[in-house]
Amino acid sequence: MTFRGGPVLGIESSCDETSAAVVESGRVLGHVILSQDAHAVYGGVVPEIAARQHLAHIDGVVARTLEEAGLEPSDLGGVGVTAGPGLVGALLVGLNWAKGFAYALGLPAIGVHHMEAHLYANSLDSPDASPPFVALLVSGGHTLLLYAPRWGTYQLLGATRDDAVGEAFDKVARRLGLGFPGGPEIEKLARRGRAGTHRLPRPMLSRRDTPADSAYFDFSFSGLKTAVSLRVADIEAEATGDDLEAARADLAAEFQEAVVHVLVAKTMRAVEHTGCSRVLLGGGVARNGPLRQRLADALAPAGELFAPSPRLSTDNAAMVARLAEHRLQAGEADGLDLNADPGFPFPGLSEVERTG
Ligand code: KG4
Ligand code: ZN
Repeated sequence: MTFRGGPVLGIESSCDETSAAVVESGRVLGHVILSQDAHAVYGGVVPEIAARQHLAHIDGVVARTLEEAGLEPSDLGGVGVTAGPGLVGALLVGLNWAKGFAYALGLPAIGVHHMEAHLYANSLDSPDASPPFVALLVSGGHTLLLYAPRWGTYQLLGATRDDAVGEAFDKVARRLGLGFPGGPEIEKLARRGRAGTHRLPRPMLSRRDTPADSAYFDFSFSGLKTAVSLRVADIEAEATGDDLEAARADLAAEFQEAVVHVLVAKTMRAVEHTGCSRVLLGGGVARNGPLRQRLADALAPAGELFAPSPRLSTDNAAMVARLAEHRLQAGEADGLDLNADPGFPFPGLSEVERTG
C-alpha cells in the first residue's frame, strides 16, 4: 500500500496514555490524550489494567480526535502506531486497532519506535529541530544520549546502566510519600527545599574518564535512589512534624539537583565530543523546569536547545503521527504482519566504537 499524501492518524498505547492525533505536513489538526488515572492508587502502572483501559477508550479517543480535526476516516492518508517498546498488552491494543482500521479503509500503516517518536515531538513545536543534533531522551523507561547526523541514523553515546531517570523520580517520590507519577511531585516539593542541605552523590562523573570509556557518557541512578532512601530513614529517625517536612523538601531538592547536574554534564560532554551544539530534549522528564533551564544556560550563548511543550513531552500520539508521516512520505510502510515488540530496538542505532 503506498502513501498518496493526506492527514496521518497516529495511535499511542505503549504505557498508560491512550492517545490519538491527526497530523498533516507537520501540523497537528486534532489531538486527544487520555491519561489513565486507575493506576494512581497502586503507585505505579499495572500492565493488565493499562491494556483493559486502552481497550475501553480507544474508539472514543479516535472519534474525538477526528471530530477535533473536522475529518472523516475517509479523509485520512495513512496510519502510524507505536509498535514498541512498551507493555506488550498495552501495545497490542493500539497496534491491532490501527491495523484493523488501516485494513478496513485501505490505508498504508506503519509501526514506529516510541523513543524515536519522542525525538520527533520537537519538530511539531519547532520545524528547525532537525539533524544534526545531540539528543537527551529521558522517560520512565529509558535514558539515552544520542548523536543524530540525519533523521533515521543515530549514534548511541550513552545510556543508563540501571534505572531510567523517570523511574528514579518515581521511586524516590514513593519513598518520600508522594503520589504517582513522581516527577512532577518531586519538582513541586523541591521548590520548597534547599539543595545542598543533604549532600547526595553525582553518579558516574569521574574526571578521569575519557570519551573512550563507556562510563564517560553512561548514566546510573539506582545508587542515588538508594542514597535517598538511606537519608530518608535517617531524617525520619531524627525529625518530626514541620522539621521532617522541611527535611523531605530539602532532600527532594538535592535529589533533583543531583539528577539535573549529571544530565547536563553528560549532555555537554556529548556536545563537546561531537562538536554539535544543537540539543534536542525528549521524554516525560523533559517537562522538568530546572532541567530545561540548566541545559539552556549551559548551551548559551552559542548552542541551541529544543524541548517540546509540556503536553508533547510526556506520552502522546502527535509525535507518533509526525514520525509516521515522515516515514510514509519516504515510501515506507508495514504489512499486516506488523507485530507489537516490547523490546523494539531503536531503529538506525549504532554503537560508538571505543578504544578503551
Ligand atoms: O515519556 P513518558 O510520559 O512515559 C514513558 O515513555 O516512560 O515519561 C514518564 C516519566 C515518569 O517517570 C514521570 O515521573 C516523568 O516522566 N516526569 C517528570 C516530570 N514530569 C513527568 N520527571 C521529572 N520532572 C517532571 N516535571
Ligand atoms: Zn514515553
